[in-house]
Amino acid sequence: MTWTFDRLSGADDLEGVLAVDEACFNHPWSRADYERELADPGRCFILLARAPGVRVAAYCSFWRIVDEIHINSFAVRPEWRRQGLGAALLRHVLAEGTRLGAPRATLEVRRSNEAALRLYEQAGFRQTGLRRQYYANPLEDALILWREPEPSPP
Ligand SMILES: CC(C)(COP(=O)(O)OP(=O)(O)OC[C@H]1O[C@@H](n2cnc3c(N)ncnc32)[C@H](O)[C@@H]1OP(=O)(O)O)[C@@H](O)C(=O)NCCC(=O)NCCS
Repeated sequence: MTWTFDRLSGADDLEGVLAVDEACFNHPWSRADYERELADPGRCFILLARAPGVRVAAYCSFWRIVDEIHINSFAVRPEWRRQGLGAALLRHVLAEGTRLGAPRATLEVRRSNEAALRLYEQAGFRQTGLRRQYYANPLEDALILWREPEPSPP
């Protein structure tokens, strides 16, 4: 499958993101949550992966804050997992952050989320901290991960 990566644009894309959330999370964001985020396009970015006939297979929502991006949500629809799409989307998100002047990246992830932890570690994220009992339903610690840009060669 050949994927393209675009910024969310319009009501159909938002429907696609809501459908990904519905398929992936127990407590998805509501449409109103997204509309609030999208009202601030200088801070909130949502990147989508799509293909012919597939409106939204995966997405990542992040904030740009000065020189860092904070990844708030990242998900691949179950039927498209384990095919490298998550890794490709993450590379695209990190490149977009760099293009925006925000080469540093951070996120929180459930301690038990092995698939996501491996994905992030392969992309160069490292654990730098922990927030105890950060997540509800079920109650669980969050690991705080950071990825620093490669130092430029001398
Ligand atoms: C985590 C998630 C985004 C991975 O997406 P994906 O498209 O399946 O990931 P990829 O196929 O690109 O895999 C990249 C790497 O992640 C790791 N990985 C992905 N799924 C895995 C799994 N089920 N078990 C163990 N490792 C896994 C592997 O290291 C993999 O590399 P490999 O294929 O060389 O072994 C996806 O499982 C998902 O959407 N999960 C539910 C939502 C979620 O947990 N989001 C993260 C919130 S912080």
